[in-house]
This record gives sequence, C-alpha cells and structure tokens, in this order.
Amino acid sequence: MLFDSHTHFNNEDLTSLERQALFSAVDNAVRSGKMSGAVDIGFDLPSSQMAAEHADKWAWCYAAVGCHPHDAKTMDDDKLLQIRELAAKEKVVAIGEIGLDFYYDLSDRDVQREWFRRQIRLANELMMPITIHAREADQEVMDILKEEGAFSKERQEYFGHAGVLLHCFSGSAELGKQYVKLGAYLSVAGPVTYKNNKKTVAMVAAVPIERLLVETDAPYLTPVPFRGKRNTPLFVEYTARKVAEIKGLTFEETAVITRDNAMRFYGIKG
Ligand code: NI
Repeated sequence: MLFDSHTHFNNEDLTSLERQALFSAVDNAVRSGKMSGAVDIGFDLPSSQMAAEHADKWAWCYAAVGCHPHDAKTMDDDKLLQIRELAAKEKVVAIGEIGLDFYYDLSDRDVQREWFRRQIRLANELMMPITIHAREADQEVMDILKEEGAFSKERQEYFGHAGVLLHCFSGSAELGKQYVKLGAYLSVAGPVTYKNNKKTVAMVAAVPIERLLVETDAPYLTPVPFRGKRNTPLFVEYTARKVAEIKGLTFEETAVITRDNAMRFYGIKG
C-alpha cells in the first residue's frame, strides 16, 4: 500500500500518450492493492491547473498547487489569484512546491524569496499544508518558514502538526531532527538508494518513522536499480525498501506507515 507523496504527472516532457500509460500503470497498481495513491505537484500555474485536472479525473490522485523557485520569475498577482482559486478545489491538498533553489538559480534570488513568502502567507490564510523545495538554501528556507509563521500555534492546532513537508529532504540528520521538533514532515526520494549517499541514510536513521514520507519526484530522481531510466510513481517501492532496511522494519510495515503519514500530512481521509 504505497503512497507516492510527490510526483509530476504534469511534467511538460511527457507526451499525452506517455502520461496516459503512467496513469494506467498506477491505476492498475491501485486496483491490485500495491499502491494507494499519489500527489501530482504543481510547479507553475499551468502545471498546477493540470495537477488539479488529474485529481478530478482519478480517484486515487491528489494535487498540490503552487510555484517552484525555478519558475518564480513567471509569477504575478493574477497568477497567485488563480492558484488561490485552484487551491479551493476539493482534491487540492497542499500549496507547493514552493521554496528556494540557490543551486540552479533559475530565478533571481529576491524573486524566489518574494514568491516563497507570498505562497506561505497564502497557505496560512487558507490553512493548507505546504510542500517545500530547498536546494543549497537550508538555513534561509528554515528562517523564512519561521518568520512567515509556517510553524505557528494556529497551524499546529489545526493540523495536529505544522503542515510543513520538506520534499526530497537532503539536509543533515541534525537539521532533520530540528524540523521534526518544529512539527514538520520529511520526505525521502530516490537519492537515498544511491551508493554514496551516506548523509540521507544517516538522516533517515535519526528521525522517527512517524515523520517520514516516501516519494518519487518522477520523472526525476530514479532510484536504484533503475537509475538512468525515467522514474515512475511505481518505483517509490525501492525508496520504501531502502527506508525499511535503514529502520529495521519490513517493507510492508514501512509502506503502511509512510502511507499513513502521507494521509495525515495531506489531510486525506482513508
Ligand atoms: Ni518536484
């Protein structure tokens, strides 16, 4: 019963035939009881609209809407308004992915900061969970989340946690523990299976399984043994198997716990 907490059926490189094949594959996995669902994550306005359409179409599919730091340069007031409207839809379960990426710097850093802050404020107004993308910006992401009230008492009381998810978390064990203390969840993707990735293995070992989600970020970040091929939500299995190994749990236990964590984070009723 795996749940892919972060994927991109809305990726612009997929042809509609390829996308259709992906939906069918996941739908079969859901019917056979291998998977329970996935969240299609927006990264700009068109991909957010697409994610919401996918969630309308497939019972097991949910959506997050928002603008990625790479695409922050495409944002304006009107687009934020349209994201707000999409967020009101029943199966839109989070604002995201939002954050800072100082590795690629595809948008000016001040532009990234502005839209990160404005989308956290939007999530606070709407009382919605947020999915965070952070790269080479760990400290500033944490500072902005704190300054904008992402860990506020109101949010903690409303959700029973902060409603903050660090997607494909690549921070240290120490930073992971700090986030858990603040009420956040951490999501683990394919890179945990890479041979040289001791940092993420140590992080997974250090934080409670109750705060860990698994994801693919498909079509990117394909786990071993399929590294080099295009990723699909079905491959979330290999990340879950690695988490199970690190935690000393069975694969089945890990699948159920991380699925339940995802449902709790996104507020999806089982
Ligand atoms: Ni993503």
